[in-house]
Amino acid sequence: MQPMNNLAIQADRVSKRYRIGSARERNRTFREALTKTIAAPWRSLRRQFQGKATAGNGSPDLIWALKDVSFEVRRGEAVGIIGRNGAGKSTLLKILSRITEPTEGRIVLRGRVGSLLEVGTGFHSELTGEENIYLSGTILGMSSQEISRKFDEIVAFSEMERFINTPVKHYSSGMYMRLAFAVAAHLEPEILLVDEVLAVGDAAFQRKCLGKMEHVAQEGRTVLFVSHNMTAVTDLCQKAILLQNGQLVQYDDAKTVVRDYLSFNEELSSERIWDDRNPPGNEQIKLRQAYFVDSHGNKLAMAFINQEIGFCVEYEVLDDIPFFTHSINVFNETEVHLFTSHDDHAYERSAEIKRGRYRTIVWLPADLLQDGDFEFSFACMRYNPFIILFHERRIVRLKMMDTIHSATRHENYREGLPGLIRPKLKWDERKRVSDPS
Ligand SMILES: Nc1ncnc2c1ncn2[C@@H]1O[C@H](COP(=O)(O)OP(=O)(O)OP(=O)(O)O)[C@@H](O)[C@H]1O
Ligand SMILES: [Mg+2]
Repeated sequence: MQPMNNLAIQADRVSKRYRIGSARERNRTFREALTKTIAAPWRSLRRQFQGKATAGNGSPDLIWALKDVSFEVRRGEAVGIIGRNGAGKSTLLKILSRITEPTEGRIVLRGRVGSLLEVGTGFHSELTGEENIYLSGTILGMSSQEISRKFDEIVAFSEMERFINTPVKHYSSGMYMRLAFAVAAHLEPEILLVDEVLAVGDAAFQRKCLGKMEHVAQEGRTVLFVSHNMTAVTDLCQKAILLQNGQLVQYDDAKTVVRDYLSFNEELSSERIWDDRNPPGNEQIKLRQAYFVDSHGNKLAMAFINQEIGFCVEYEVLDDIPFFTHSINVFNETEVHLFTSHDDHAYERSAEIKRGRYRTIVWLPADLLQDGDFEFSFACMRYNPFIILFHERRIVRLKMMDTIHSATRHENYREGLPGLIRPKLKWDERKRVSDPS
């Protein structure tokens, strides 16, 4: 076991039960939180609270948003929290930041907590941006001098100079989020909890937030980051927690967790197996499997952009039939058709295709696809005359991810380089071609 002082967060069988339907539990208001705060010693570095188990577990209008969630986070670790909508991610962060209490279980946090949760949890709506900055700092246990030192930095980061004296109830959700993130990240929390900052705000601000979080993590502070953006999670976090229906199902290296999550999360997955019921194809050719492999032949649920990828299709030929060949089409997530590739050599190889099961593999070079989701289609056709035997669209989807420390990484392009494809091109060294005249 780790020495106690190495741990920033300990969650021990944390459960949260909500009543759904009419009596939806309201989040604690900021005022309530503040009252509680004043009563409890915020400055103390060790915070504990114990939930009370209550009766009525079997009632149909009660749901467990979290059930028996236990984990530990070491000081200075950045941990991503992922999972489908309703998995319990926000609930977990709300419990950690004391917006709400666990129904059962115990949480220990060591260090000042800064949090950016959903809009509506955190700031006091009647107070101005400036007043909220001071209030948040006070809650974090900072002196007004310390807050004043940070004030300009916060306002500059949020780009909210013009509205800093406006009550936050008049802010748009994007403006609110900007200020809330700036406050959470700049008031030197030892533990930073961030929920879905990327969902609000424009792309430029999102990049700025990711950069700031990376900086906070590099300074050795603890970060818990809820996001649906898997690239951001693997970029920022060494580890990740996967929640599923309120339960912690995986806590491991971020890349591993993200890969496993994506492999069963997508409606269109990276691997398809068809049985006899409805295989794509025609009367003589039936698709059996489609999947991706790496250069060693291992199946891939996702791939990194700098990795060569084999797209494999297995099919059955039911009779000996005249020659045919294959092609693929690749589409990006906005359904832009990126390219087609035909298996031209197959024409020379054989004149008749015997009955049996076949596998064909087409290799996509490394550094071709962008990061994002790609859908693959597969077709069989004949030439002379050209005839398409069948074309099966959207058979599999592959998630491409940017590498964490890719050489193509550029400070200004945290979300990745723009463009439909990401080829690695050869650049000749600059040469001076003439002297100034
Ligand atoms: N205040 C509440 N009252 C009743 N039920 C709630 C409340 N807050 C959350 N829930 C329920 O608890 C479950 C977990 O919700 P939570 O917001 O933690 O999910 P999430 O993982 O953050 O989802 P998302 O990805 O959509 O943000 C859901 O079924 C949700 O409907
Ligand atoms: Mg949420």
